[in-house]
Amino acid sequence: MRILSLRLIVALILGVTLVSVISSWYQVRTDKDALRVDLERKAETFGESLAAVSESYLQNGDTTGLRSMLRRFDDRDHLVGIEVFDSEYFALSSTGKANVLLPETPQLLKDAIARNRTETNYMRSGFRRMYVLAAPLHAINNSVAGGILVVYDTGYIRAQVFREWGQAFAHIAFQVLVIVGITLLIVRWSLAGPIQRAAEWMKTLRTDRDVAPPSPKDLDFLHTLAQEVAPLAESMRQAHAAAETEARLRNTNESLWTAQRLADHVRTKLDGNNLYVVSNREPYIHNRQDGDIKVTVPASGLVTAMEPILRACNGTWIAQGSGSADRDVVDEHDCLQVPPNDPKYTLRRVWLTKEEEEGYYYGFANEGLWPLCHMAHTRPTFRASDWRYYNEVNSRFADALAEQIGDEESPVVLIQDYHFALLPRMIKERIPHARVAIFWHIPWPNPEAFSICPWQQELLDGLLGADLIGFHVQAHCNNFLNTVDRVLEARVDWERFSVRRKSHWSSVLPFPISVDFLEPENVVSDTNTAEERSELIAELGIETTFLGVGVDRLDYTKGIVERFLAVESFLERHPRYQGRFTFIQIGAPTRSNIPEYSQFHKKVRDEADRINERFKGGKWKPIVMLDRQHSHEEVLRYYRLAHLCLVTSLHDGMNLVAKEYVASRDDNRGVLILSLFTGASRELRDAIIVNPYDTQATGEAIARALEMDVEEVTDRMTRMRKSVSEHNIYWWASSLIGDLCDLRLSRDTVLKTTIEGTRRAS
Ligand code: G6P
Repeated sequence: MRILSLRLIVALILGVTLVSVISSWYQVRTDKDALRVDLERKAETFGESLAAVSESYLQNGDTTGLRSMLRRFDDRDHLVGIEVFDSEYFALSSTGKANVLLPETPQLLKDAIARNRTETNYMRSGFRRMYVLAAPLHAINNSVAGGILVVYDTGYIRAQVFREWGQAFAHIAFQVLVIVGITLLIVRWSLAGPIQRAAEWMKTLRTDRDVAPPSPKDLDFLHTLAQEVAPLAESMRQAHAAAETEARLRNTNESLWTAQRLADHVRTKLDGNNLYVVSNREPYIHNRQDGDIKVTVPASGLVTAMEPILRACNGTWIAQGSGSADRDVVDEHDCLQVPPNDPKYTLRRVWLTKEEEEGYYYGFANEGLWPLCHMAHTRPTFRASDWRYYNEVNSRFADALAEQIGDEESPVVLIQDYHFALLPRMIKERIPHARVAIFWHIPWPNPEAFSICPWQQELLDGLLGADLIGFHVQAHCNNFLNTVDRVLEARVDWERFSVRRKSHWSSVLPFPISVDFLEPENVVSDTNTAEERSELIAELGIETTFLGVGVDRLDYTKGIVERFLAVESFLERHPRYQGRFTFIQIGAPTRSNIPEYSQFHKKVRDEADRINERFKGGKWKPIVMLDRQHSHEEVLRYYRLAHLCLVTSLHDGMNLVAKEYVASRDDNRGVLILSLFTGASRELRDAIIVNPYDTQATGEAIARALEMDVEEVTDRMTRMRKSVSEHNIYWWASSLIGDLCDLRLSRDTVLKTTIEGTRRAS
């Protein structure tokens, strides 16, 4: 800062001085010229009239009169003297010091007489500077009869010039002082302050774990810089936290999976090869909002799981571009670097036409495969046109992927979900040496149920292009293997859970997905749950004592109507809870272009209204329906304040809401009521497991949860939290990628994997 100030001061002094000197020089020169012009004009007027008068004395031969006339001008302003000569240059008369200062016969006089005209010149005699006018004098016949010299002292012009320069320098010094002073003040107020505050903030970042940046006002012009630094600071903070967690884990000899551990693990497993993830949903969506581009991250367990891997290995994520401003931010290859504030990997967007989206996404994927795989008694709809679009879009993604991979030697490809059943085979056809896995996030039905799909063979064949096919639970793997056994010409190896088709082996294994389990120090600790709960109840505009919560996309597989019926049955059979128990349903609208979904949304609302109407009394409400998108933080608040959480899916691959509820309860309280038809029920055995179709039994589970002994509540929650923390999302991702990388790819030899059944069984 001191050096900067010094440089600034020197530059200012030089600049101000230079500019002032140039302008003063110009001013002084103008003044000097004006004085000279003035003198010359005066000398000319005076000299010419004096010559005329002297001529008349000469013509009369009155040299005495001439002398006395000239003497009258002796003390005239700046006049040094006057001399009159005859034509032979003999001095006839002289006043003042002209004869002393000038040579005997000045050349100027000779020129004036010879040319018969007035001559002027500036001259110098020693230190004296003079202005001399020489004019010819005429006889009566107009011949040149002599000459006159008029001599002025020009010293006063010099003196004036010096005076002006003196004033100018005083002026310059004053200006420099004022400008330097003001600049130093500005530097102190506007530069030094913000720089110091920013520096102090950055210094604290190295030591403190979570320091908020100073306010934009405090940072002033460094505000934009701080905006850029903040994400870096956040990365540092996370790295710091991860390192500390790792160290703690090492110390306690535990083996919890963290984002950092996953990143290290995946880097080792990939061994320098590139990872490609394909999903329908993209991890960052750019939307135009009020003239600005806003980025949103879809609330998805998949994004949480894939992000640390892609960040660690600089991979590529290929997904459908679905945001209104998505096209505005990609380069000429439809790619952009993400996360937007701290780019670590590439997102490649694939564009679909409205018709393609209708046929592939709404049609075949969500009206066909979704109800086919979920036993929720909604009939799948299979249209040949949707199937065509599904093929085309899968092929579009295969092309995009092949383009991204280029001639890479050992790419690793991880495909997500039922939108891309045909993609594994398509990729293998284009890039046979690629290592390919697909993870099926939804259940796989039994062979009878699956057989109603007109394209079951094609779907199975497409999937069997993969080297690894993952499901959440072993039961779905078994269903898949049974279906393959029934439908295709393939060899199913039940010992190794793998399938051989066309000399290619695919491993079929369970990888139960999970959530990010926040470490206690990263969780906002709830010290006064009761008070916060009262605030929430007041915000909802109701009166109640006990809260239950459910969080779902408004999907017919989630058993939301059955849940409401269970609440109704509970209030009916336990009337003492009327006026005291409220169930809050957070429902995010989803896939609303599909009639089943919009009808279902209406049905859920109608059912809530009916039950509310039936029991209504004062400000109490049995069911509060919040049917809009909620952020993760908003949902967390409900989880942490609810006495119980109801997860009553009719059929679900895993259901991460159950695990999110457990992960959020760092107070070891809260009871989870969980459908036995979810993948999560296999792991969370301390939940109260219910059959959602049995609404009376689910109602009884609510009563049991509310009346459960605190010790038992804590005991159950503690055990579930241990299970989720040990099998968190990072564990899931590490197992999936680790197993994919460990597979020995072979076309005609028996597949050898390092994966052991014992790990699965655990
Ligand atoms: C399920 C699927 C995901 C899907 C999510 C949201 O969990 O397994 O692949 O992304 O629902 O559905 P959406 O259709 O909005 O992507």
